[in-house]
Amino acid sequence: MSDDTAQGLDVPALLVQLTLEEKAALLDGADFWRTTPVERLGVPGLLLSDGPHGLRKQAVGGDHLGLGSSVPATCFPPAAGLASSWDTGLLTRVGEALGRECRAQGVSVLLGPGVNMKRSPLCGRNFEYFSEDPLLAGELAAALVDGVQSQGVGTSLKHFAANNQETDRMTVSADVDERTLREIYFPAFERVVTRSEPWTVMCSYNRVNGVYASEDPWLLTDVLRGEWGFEGLVVSDWGAVSRRDAGVAAGLDLEMPSSSGGGTRTVLEALRSEALSEADVDRAASRVLALVDRALRGQAVPVEAVDVDAHHALAREAAAASAVLLKNDGAILPLDPDAAGAVAVVGEMARTPRFQGAGSSQVNPTRLDTALDALRAAFDGRREVTFAPGYRVETDAADPALVEEAVRAADAAEVVVLFLGLPPSWESEGYDRASMDLPTAQVELLHVVADANPRVVVVLSNGSVVTVAPWQDRAQAVLEGWLLGQAGGSATADLLLGAVGPSGRLAETIPVRYEDTPTIGAFPGEHGHVRYGEGLLIGYRWYDAHRLPVAYPFGHGLTYTTFAYSDLDVSASPGPPTEVDVRLTVTNTGDRAGLETVQVYVADPEASVYRPEQELRAFARVALQPGESASVTLVLARRAFAFWHTPQGRWVVEGGTFGIRVGASSSDVRLEADVQLSGDDLTPPLTVEATADAWLAHPQAGPWLRQSLGDGEFARLMSDPRNGQMLRAVPLQRLSRMPGFPISEEQVTHAAARYADRAALLPMRGAAPPGDVASPPSAHAASSATPSSRPPRST
Ligand code: BGC
Repeated sequence: MSDDTAQGLDVPALLVQLTLEEKAALLDGADFWRTTPVERLGVPGLLLSDGPHGLRKQAVGGDHLGLGSSVPATCFPPAAGLASSWDTGLLTRVGEALGRECRAQGVSVLLGPGVNMKRSPLCGRNFEYFSEDPLLAGELAAALVDGVQSQGVGTSLKHFAANNQETDRMTVSADVDERTLREIYFPAFERVVTRSEPWTVMCSYNRVNGVYASEDPWLLTDVLRGEWGFEGLVVSDWGAVSRRDAGVAAGLDLEMPSSSGGGTRTVLEALRSEALSEADVDRAASRVLALVDRALRGQAVPVEAVDVDAHHALAREAAAASAVLLKNDGAILPLDPDAAGAVAVVGEMARTPRFQGAGSSQVNPTRLDTALDALRAAFDGRREVTFAPGYRVETDAADPALVEEAVRAADAAEVVVLFLGLPPSWESEGYDRASMDLPTAQVELLHVVADANPRVVVVLSNGSVVTVAPWQDRAQAVLEGWLLGQAGGSATADLLLGAVGPSGRLAETIPVRYEDTPTIGAFPGEHGHVRYGEGLLIGYRWYDAHRLPVAYPFGHGLTYTTFAYSDLDVSASPGPPTEVDVRLTVTNTGDRAGLETVQVYVADPEASVYRPEQELRAFARVALQPGESASVTLVLARRAFAFWHTPQGRWVVEGGTFGIRVGASSSDVRLEADVQLSGDDLTPPLTVEATADAWLAHPQAGPWLRQSLGDGEFARLMSDPRNGQMLRAVPLQRLSRMPGFPISEEQVTHAAARYADRAALLPMRGAAPPGDVASPPSAHAASSATPSSRPPRST
C-alpha cells in the first residue's frame, strides 16, 4: 500500500459484492505474512510482521520461528527488560518508534505485545513477556499499544490465553479455575483491550480447560467481545488452527499463515453442510475487511521519517531504564572514571552481547553496541580497561587457559566488571529451560576471579530469572541487565559510570531456589495437561503466602540515591463506584538525582474467599533532585479491591477494611493505612442446600427456623458451644431427613421457595458462630452474616 491509497473501504458494500468463495478466502492468509487481497474489488492484502520489541519483516519467503533473515530494524529491549522500567511513558515512545518503522516498511500490524504471565521462571519465552503481575503487564503493554497505534499501525495482543509455557505449546491444555483466569491470566489482556483497543488479538496455540483457544467461543466471543467490548479482529497464532470451522463459529476471524487452501475449503464445506451459516462467515469476513479499512486509513496518519540514530538513542535510554541494580555493597557503583587502577572487563558477553531472545521475535538490529567498546569509550583513556573473555558462551565446561587469563586480569585491576549470562540456546521460543542456574563454568569463574580481586561487579544477561543466591555474596554489586536490545552495551556503561542512574525495578521475583517456585510439580504438566494448582498464587503472591525468603522481591531495585516516604493520606470517595486516592510525599534523601518507583499494594485481610496477602494495584515513578520532595497521588479504582465471584460470575467488592501498603517493593513497605469501603450485595439465593447457619443468618428465614426448632433437642444441640457449630454446618435439607428433626423435608423445600428471593447472606469463612439458636436473633447473631471481625461498612 502506498500513501495515495490511504482511504478506507466501504465494508458493508463490499460484503454484498463478495462471493462466498471470496469471503471464505479472506479468512485465510495469502502467504506467511499477508492477508488475502480481493483484487477485483480493490481490497489489498495487509502485511503483518513480528514483533514485539522490534520489527522482523522478512524480505523474501518467510518462517515464523525466527530462522530466516529480516530487514534491519531497531532492536529495543525485549519485554523482560522494558517491563523493569515500570515506565509507561517510555513504553509509549518505544511503541511510536516501532510504529514509525512499520510504516516505513509497509507493515500494517505489528505482532505483539505478548502479555502472558510469567507462571514459571522456566518458561522459554519469559523474555518476551512482561511480568508475574497482571496489573504491571497490562499497564505497560497498553502504553506500548498506544504508541504503535498512534502511528496508524495496528498491534496484535498475544497469546490469548493461558500460554504460559513452551513445552507442548501447540496442544497442551492449561487447566485453570475460572477465578484464577479472571484475576491472574486475563487482566492484562482485559486492560489492554478496554483501554487501548488493539486492532487485533492473537489467540494462543494451547487449549484452555480442554478447548483449543482457537475454537473457544467463551474466550474469543463471550469474554473478549461480550464482556470487554473488543471490536477488532482475532487472528490465530501461526499454525494454531486445528478445526477451522469450529474456529470461525467461535470467533477466530483470520487464520495465519496461509493454510494453503485447506482452511478455505473447510469453511466452504461447513457452509454447504450448514455447520456454519453465511452470517458466521460474513461476521469474520467483515472483520478482516474492517482491519484492511483501518490499515488503509492508518496510512493517512502523518508520521516522521525513521531516524535510525534517534531510534538507537531511544533504545539506549530504554535499556538503561530496564536494568535493575540488585545490590551495591559499599557503593562500589558508580565506578569513578578518574580513580587510580585498571578496570578489568571479564566475560565473553561484554564483547559478544546477549541482547535478545530466540524465535519469532528475533530482530536484525540496525547496529549493535558492546559493553566492552562502550566502557572503553566511557573511560576514554582516563583508566586502563583490560579484557579477558573468561569463558566460551555456548559451553558449560571451563576453559583453563581462559580462566587463567581472567584471573590475571582481575588480579592486576582495581575493580572487575564481570559479564555473566545465559547462552542463547538456553532460552528460546519453542522450548522451556531446563534449569534456573547460570552455566557452571561461569559461576566457577566468578569464584576464582573474586578470590583474586574481591571488588567484583557482576552484570547479568538473561531473558528470564536466574538463581543468584548461590554466588551473589562473591560480588559487591549485581546489575541485572536482562536482555537489553541493540544499545544495551552503551546503556550498561552509562549505568556503571553513573552517567545515568539505575531506576529499574523487578517485574518478577528472583527466588532463592527453583524448588521454592509456585509451579513445582505442576510445570510443564503431563499427558497433555498442565494443572494450574497454585491458583492465584503466582510470583510474589506465592512467596508471601508461604513466607518464603526470596533472593530479591518483586518491585526491588536500587538507585544511586535514597528516598524517604511520608505523609500518607488515603481517602475513599463515597461510592459505589468508589475511588480511593492514595497521597504521599517522597523525598530524595541522598546526594544524587534519582527516580523512585512508588508501589501501592492492597490487602484484604478478612474476606469470605481466599485472597492473596497483597496485590499490586498502582505504581508511579517520580524523578527527584537531591533534597527535593514531591507529592504523589495514585488513584485506585473500585476494581482494585474486587475479587471474581465465580458462582455469581462477576467482580465483587466485599465491604470492610482494606489495607493500603505503600513501598519500594513488595517486601519493602514504607507506609500503611486502612480504608473502609462499602461492599456489593453478595446475597446468594437461599436453597435447601444452604447450611443451617445460612438459614439462621437469613433475616426472614432465620426467625422462621428458630421458631420451628422451638426448644427441643435439636435446638439445644445446635446451640451447644462444643458441637453446635458442627451441626449448623449441615445443609438444612439433610438435617430435615434426620430422625427426630422437628421440620420435615417438605417444609424446608417450601421455606426455601418462600425465602429464595429475599435478602440472605451465607456465613463467611472465619465468621463467629451465630450464638444461641433457640433465642431470638441477637445483634451478635445478626452480625454473623458478615465476619464479625470486619469493621462496619462505611457509607
Ligand atoms: C509465535 C507468535 C508469532 C508468530 C509469527 C508464532 O510462533 O508464537 O508470537 O507472532 O509465530 O511469527
